[in-house]
Amino acid sequence: MSLREDIARVVIGERDLGQRIRELGQQIAADYAGESPVLIGVLKGAVLFLVDLMREIDLPVELDFIAISSYGGATQSSGVVRITKDLDSSVEGRHLIVVEDIVDTGLTLRYLVENLASRHPASLRVCALLNKRKVRKADLRLDYVGFEIPDEFVVGYGLDYAEQYRNLPFIGVLRRETDS
Ligand code: IMP
Repeated sequence: MSLREDIARVVIGERDLGQRIRELGQQIAADYAGESPVLIGVLKGAVLFLVDLMREIDLPVELDFIAISSYGGATQSSGVVRITKDLDSSVEGRHLIVVEDIVDTGLTLRYLVENLASRHPASLRVCALLNKRKVRKADLRLDYVGFEIPDEFVVGYGLDYAEQYRNLPFIGVLRRETDS
C-alpha cells in the first residue's frame, strides 16, 4: 500500500519546494546579515520545512521548538490554543523567526506571536511555508511566505491529516472516499 495512492493531486512538488525554500533562506540570510537569529519551529508540522530552510541560511542560527495544540476538530482551527511544549531557552533580546507550516485562519499564529512578543525579543518575524488565500479572522503580518495556496486542505511535507502523511516529500490534496 502506497501513501501516494491517497493523494488526488500534487499542489506543490518537491522541486518547487526546494527552489522556493532556497530563495527564502537566501533572503533571510541577507536580511539578518551580521546577526544570529533564533529559528523557532512550531511542532510538528513545520519540522520538514525548518530542517530544509535552515540548511539554506548561511548564518550562525540557533534553533528552538514550541508545540501548541488547538482545541477543535481535526481540520478546523478553534483559535483556542495551548502551549504543550515551551521553548528551552529565554529569548529576551534575541532576533526571533517563527517558522510555521501553514497559515489558515491565522489564529494559531496570532496567539504565538503575542505570546513570544511578551518575552521581549529584539525582533520577531514570521516565516510561513504556505498561506491560504482567504478572508482572515485574525489580523496578521507574514514577513516571509513560501507559497500562496487556495483554501483547501493539504497534506504532506510535514502537514498531517490525523497524524498521517507528514512524510510525503510534496504537498498534495487527499483523495476523497467518494473518488475512485
Ligand atoms: P490556523 O490557526 O487556522 O491558522 O491553523 C493553523 C494550523 O492548522 C496549522 O499550523 C496546521 O497545523 C493546521 N492546518 C491548517 N490548515 C491545514 C491544512 O490544509 N492541512 C494540514 N494542517 C492544516
